[in-house]
Amino acid sequence: MRFIDIEDYNPQAMQLAMPVYDRMRRILLAAGRTIHPNYLERIKEIGVTTLVVEDAESYGITLDEMLDMPTWMDIIAVVQEAFEDVKKGKRLNVVAIQKAAMTLIQEVNALKTIILIPTTSISEGLEKYAHSVNVALLCLQISKQMSYSPVQLRDLAIGALLHDIGKAVTDQEAEHPAKGFEVIKESREISLLSAHVAFQHHELLNGKGYPRGLKDKEVLEFPQICGIANLYDRMLSNQKLPPHEALELIMTKSDDEYSHKVVQAFVNSVPSYLPGTKVELYTGEQAIVIGIKNHLQRPVIRFLESGKELNLAENPSVLISKVIN
Ligand SMILES: [Fe+2]
Repeated sequence: MRFIDIEDYNPQAMQLAMPVYDRMRRILLAAGRTIHPNYLERIKEIGVTTLVVEDAESYGITLDEMLDMPTWMDIIAVVQEAFEDVKKGKRLNVVAIQKAAMTLIQEVNALKTIILIPTTSISEGLEKYAHSVNVALLCLQISKQMSYSPVQLRDLAIGALLHDIGKAVTDQEAEHPAKGFEVIKESREISLLSAHVAFQHHELLNGKGYPRGLKDKEVLEFPQICGIANLYDRMLSNQKLPPHEALELIMTKSDDEYSHKVVQAFVNSVPSYLPGTKVELYTGEQAIVIGIKNHLQRPVIRFLESGKELNLAENPSVLISKVIN
């Protein structure tokens, strides 16, 4: 299977490999079939721009490092409920949020690395909640490099899930971190550290962030992790950047916008090339990434012409020149 842009869908050659959900989180189209042109239009109408498909080239490729879709949808529902509760002036359902955080911690623990489900693969109406779940997943993956305690992990996950909750009460971008802080602080069962993730996730070490323009040590580590996770998911989902480019962009922010420690932890957490990505080597040969085995930046590839497989981790002289998807 592999991710494709919906515009590249070819009904003659591709089957849907993961279901498509509507804005009510109901399955609109099940996996394992080709998409009828009428349905393709409907899917485009609800704002889905990324599909997971199975085709001859991606045959046998699995996305094992991805959260399963039903679990992802369940946690999206918890975040959506939180936004709706806050919008109505109701208290947060802390028990549900804590449970969601614990589920994410278990899931990420079981994975070597994390492949995010693009937020563009579900209905537009759910995108911002899906983004929060992706940010939480990524924060937990990064924190594997940080030796945090289980309690700290839970606080970080809750903060990440709720990092944009301020957007439920304001549509002013500059105001949402402080609003989020206020909303979370009202729930005494949630740690103040989680509330600070919302408050500081747009702050930068160089003082050019918002809302307060904090500097250096004033910016806590949790919000920095959340800030990077936030950037990365947006780069992949909204800007559709390939992961190796997003990684490079984030590396340029080291010691300027984010601490070297956090950037390094991030770089050591996510793969450069996702399974299913077509690449060209410096020799001009074309290949498809089939998996990530023992090196995040050096995947296993299969040559498109010969079908021969090669683990780049064991062949340091073979270099990828570009992504050709
Ligand atoms: Fe934000």
